[in-house]
Amino acid sequence: MTEKTITLTNNSNGQSVELPLLKGTAGPEVMDITSLYSKMGIFTFDPGFVATGSCRSAITYIDGNAGKLWYRGYPIEQLAEKADFLEVAYLLLYGELPSKDQLGEFEHIIRYHSMIKETVKSFFDGFHFNAHPMAVMVGVVGSLSAFYHDSLDIHNPRHREISAHRLIAKMPTIAAASYKHNIGEPFIYPRNDLDYCANFLHMMFATPCEEYVPSKLAVKAINLLFILHADHEQNASTSTVRLSGSSQANPFACIASGIASLWGPAHGGANEAVLDMLTQIGDVSKVDEYLARAKDKNDPFRLMGFGHRVYKNHDPRATIIRKVCHEILESMTDSNNPMFELALRLEQVALEDEYFVERKLYPNVDFYSGIIYRALNIPTSMFTVMFAIARTVGWMAHWMEMMDDPQQRIGRPRQIYTGYDKRDYVPLDER
Ligand code: SDX
Repeated sequence: MTEKTITLTNNSNGQSVELPLLKGTAGPEVMDITSLYSKMGIFTFDPGFVATGSCRSAITYIDGNAGKLWYRGYPIEQLAEKADFLEVAYLLLYGELPSKDQLGEFEHIIRYHSMIKETVKSFFDGFHFNAHPMAVMVGVVGSLSAFYHDSLDIHNPRHREISAHRLIAKMPTIAAASYKHNIGEPFIYPRNDLDYCANFLHMMFATPCEEYVPSKLAVKAINLLFILHADHEQNASTSTVRLSGSSQANPFACIASGIASLWGPAHGGANEAVLDMLTQIGDVSKVDEYLARAKDKNDPFRLMGFGHRVYKNHDPRATIIRKVCHEILESMTDSNNPMFELALRLEQVALEDEYFVERKLYPNVDFYSGIIYRALNIPTSMFTVMFAIARTVGWMAHWMEMMDDPQQRIGRPRQIYTGYDKRDYVPLDER
């Protein structure tokens, strides 16, 4: 099949260049500009990379206008309804749904990597008790490379795989430990008789004083939320992991950089910001006042949990979470959960407001997740940590895909220079 091309013409000098037009399995065509600078001496400019593809990837597909999200081709709605989180983790890492034996082996591997070295526990003591758990996660995860010299050869596929298993397995343990440090309770070790989500809840809420059995509903909710947060194409934190990995940094350092990027309230920190916002609004009678503030350019207030860089239709994850949120709250507490009622009212008013409709600002994945976490007694400061546990699977899948790519090279965006033209140094006594 002849290659499709696009012709660019520089009208200032009449120079033209033909560039390849690429097409993936789905999604818009892509103009390949790798030869643009060498052929025309010009760069492209796309702040925030809104319209720029950074790589080829087979992991996740998003259609923002149609509200589609596929993990390795499987629609998120089907995985959310039918799959288990480690099954989805296997799918994202290896590209296919596991057989029963493959899943059993994968679950065994993850289970037997869930402990952290005993000396890692001393790192937590270095943090003040009220350190934000995300600060602890960034620090402790980044330090893990100091313990695994046996698997730091990033050019060795087996080392890359072991690192992925270790990080996926240890994130819940580190997360729960950061929570226990925060509340001054003893760490709870992982247990090999519990599945991934139940083990996490056990490490979060068990104490040495009495038996703790996580409720089936809570395990189901965590399993769903982890599936929905597992990957999302080239979002800010995943792109951060890829850029860190492109310099051949070790995987633990790359994941620590992803955690740092996810922390921002414009990204994964939004779930925490949503609960803080709902608490700030306080009552449905204040909704109109805060909606006006969200629209006021002079007011920094934004409706956290609304809007998305890609979804200009409903975020399919928010739709799924909203439904489950309602079910869980109805079954776990009396039906009138004020936070949920306020969220429903805020959503309804925003979706009818011209400002939000015009800008296609719909609730995103973070709008309802915090309400479920709150219902599970997970503190607000742990919400983004929950996101990081799940997204570690996506981050590692993208890191492994990038490291497997023979065309992989260090990422190095360019710029439009707006500083001074060349000028000479002025001696101190002449300034
Ligand atoms: C995640 O990329 C991913 O895939 C991320 C994620 C993932 O799974 O990895 O999906 C997870 O990060 C979800 C997003 C969570 N963030 C929030 O909920 C924070 C609130 N949302 C906004 O900060 C914002 O919507 C972003 C950052 C999400 C998207 O920003 P964009 O695409 O750059 O949109 P924009 O800032 O250009 O906004 C377009 C317009 C602007 O108004 P105008 O200048 O056109 O007049 O919409 C307005 C904005 O002021 N706007 C909002 C708003 N979000 C955008 N106004 C009020 N409240 C908001 N939340």
